[in-house]
Amino acid sequence: ESFHTPYDAIGEELLWQLVDVFYSKVQKHPLLAPIFPEDLTETARKQKQFLTQYLGGPSYYTDEHGHPMLRARHLPFPITPSHAKAWLACMAEAMDEVGLQGEFRDFFYSRLELTAKHMVNTPEGKT
Ligand code: HEM
Repeated sequence: ESFHTPYDAIGEELLWQLVDVFYSKVQKHPLLAPIFPEDLTETARKQKQFLTQYLGGPSYYTDEHGHPMLRARHLPFPITPSHAKAWLACMAEAMDEVGLQGEFRDFFYSRLELTAKHMVNTPEGKT
């Protein structure tokens, strides 16, 4: 099987499912929950838009919100290396739960790992 983009490889249905499972874990995580809004409906909607374009699909995020400027949009939140680790752990669990495996999963996870590290804006112990 060959796909034009990583987005085609995962498909909208599985990506949506992944994002929903991911935020249900964020909501329960002791380190992450306090910095996120209580209602994650809008956060999940934006993340679906963002990850779609991140994986080479339609530019839903930019169409509605403009340039992602992800690091800048995260500056209001103190994100330490531990927060990045926690974010990635929730993502890995969500990937397990929706059954993402193999080369695609490794590719996607390693890209998210880089992006998560890039979001760190606060040294450990400063929150
Ligand atoms: C928004 C935390 C990593 C993509 C947010 C928000 C928080 C947050 C608190 C605001 C939620 C809201 O107000 O609705 C974190 C933490 C991370 C992290 C602790 C750990 C490193 C990432 C990564 C990505 C990402 C790796 C993308 C691959 C987004 C997007 C939004 C967002 C697209 C919505 C931005 C908007 O308001 O338009 N994040 N994030 N985040 N995050 Fe993260």
